[in-house]
Amino acid sequence: MDIVILVSGRGSNLKAICSAIDAGKCDANIVGVVSDRKKAAALEFADARGIQTRVVSLRKGDDRDLWNDALAKTVVSLKPDLIVLAGFMRVLGTPLLERFPGRIINVHPALLPAFPGHSGPQDALDAGVRISGCTVHIVDAGVDTGPIIAQAAVPVVEGDSAESLHTRIQVQEHRLLPAVIHQIAIGAITLNPLRVRRPVADLSRSLTVPDA
Ligand code: GAR
Repeated sequence: MDIVILVSGRGSNLKAICSAIDAGKCDANIVGVVSDRKKAAALEFADARGIQTRVVSLRKGDDRDLWNDALAKTVVSLKPDLIVLAGFMRVLGTPLLERFPGRIINVHPALLPAFPGHSGPQDALDAGVRISGCTVHIVDAGVDTGPIIAQAAVPVVEGDSAESLHTRIQVQEHRLLPAVIHQIAIGAITLNPLRVRRPVADLSRSLTVPDA
């Protein structure tokens, strides 16, 4: 299964996917890494690994429709079977969503549908929840609203900052996201924008698999 990974930042999830591929635990082939930020550290890592990289920048005042068209064109040119948003901090427009219906997944640092958006860990702390975690879901036109594929939970501990909670959540992201990609690659999870056939496989010890 050929995948394109969309990134905006550090790229720890990209690295986790690469490590899982190297370890034979994720049956996917990364055909490109695309970023909206040319300074994203994830791009350096991808370059060093010999993965094709593309930048489709969106600056203040830029035309959003043009950016969405350019992004879709760039991704389509890489011919992926699946698109993975791994820390991509933009909402996707219709050009990409219509070209890959149900074939785009995202990892989010909260237990959706709680705390969507850019600051999941901080929002979870502000709400005083005792458990948070991460969610891998299919991307739709909303902000972190698409069908949930898998979740992993982590405790919120006394004295947590958004950063310390996020770090704990990312440990689970790094297990869950490659595991979900692998399950999709081997057909154990069937993606459909309206209905996700949930995996029966045990993806990780702390994974919560909702009933189908
Ligand atoms: C990840 O924790 C991911 O869940 C989050 O950005 C981080 C990127 O980290 N995404 C969102 O908040 C999307 N709403 P990384 O660049 O080290 O993989």
